Amino acid sequence: MAIASHPITAKAHTNIALVKYWGKLDQQLIIPQNDSLSITLDEFYSETSVQFLPSLTNDEVTFDQQRLADQASLKIRRFLDGVRQLAGVSERAKVVTHNHVPTSAGLASSASGFAALAGAASRAAGLKLSRRELSRLARRGSGSATRSIYGGFVAWQQGHDDATSFAYPIDENPDWDIAIVALVLAKQQKKISSRQGMRLAVETSPFYPAWITTSKTDFATVKRSISDRNFDLLGHTSEQNAMRMHALTLSSDPSFTYFNADSLQAMDMVRDLRLQGLHCYFTMDAGPNVKIICRGVDAPRIATAFQKRFGPDNVLVTRPGAGITITE
Ligand code: DP6
Repeated sequence: MAIASHPITAKAHTNIALVKYWGKLDQQLIIPQNDSLSITLDEFYSETSVQFLPSLTNDEVTFDQQRLADQASLKIRRFLDGVRQLAGVSERAKVVTHNHVPTSAGLASSASGFAALAGAASRAAGLKLSRRELSRLARRGSGSATRSIYGGFVAWQQGHDDATSFAYPIDENPDWDIAIVALVLAKQQKKISSRQGMRLAVETSPFYPAWITTSKTDFATVKRSISDRNFDLLGHTSEQNAMRMHALTLSSDPSFTYFNADSLQAMDMVRDLRLQGLHCYFTMDAGPNVKIICRGVDAPRIATAFQKRFGPDNVLVTRPGAGITITE
């Protein structure tokens, strides 16, 4: 296999889980404890270019115009080792990433980041992987990245080993007027990474077995709500699933939370808007930012309400987005 003679660029979008992945069966391979389901988002994405070069003695990683120190690029370099092994190449790589996502603020930049890296690095190493293979490879970087290979509504089948744990598209171009209003409530790095947080939940939360049972039902319900185009069922189930995940953080030992005061207020505002007759629901990942699932037609009104409270720059409206693209 020959390495590419020029940088290869891949673009992958983030996704927001409606049924969350929270807990691993295998830490090394990143095999989850439950199936999850997400929407890929149009507005937030990572663009990564990779070139393997015989002249390099170390991998060089530049992230939003900043060269990463060895410690900061460890996960990326380990990931590149996996790609080298798969492709049978030994050259080190030059990696340049631009993140169009508020990093580590719960808008899932590791999902788009590792999906884009999987696409660019595998092609640059001379591999031509199918989307399923790409999804398996992206999973080795970060679990949620496995779903960012596809657009629209995407499921991640838990599986039991590397070959059986991958994402598949449920509805790549949904003909459905759905929008996500994302509230940026904190931009700093989170204190407890999702990796640490989910491990703590698996090991210490007495509610973890209940999470497995309910997430199975939630997965089936959300999947059905998509095929039936039942917006309220989709929104309600997603909101419940997110809160069940966050109950695992509160019931871990030591307990912790990703909520801040603004997150609690934003969730209350969503409940108030619902009482006023608007069909909208919230979800949150491993950070304080709240994402509101609504109909596209209602998005401007909902965004205006939140802009008044949190400032115009902290409210972003996005629609379902596309899957990965790789440019030679
Ligand atoms: C709350 O994919 O960031 O966003 O596999 O350890 O890298 P690692 O975790 P990560 O976890 C995402 C957790 C979540 C839910 C989800 O996206 O399904």
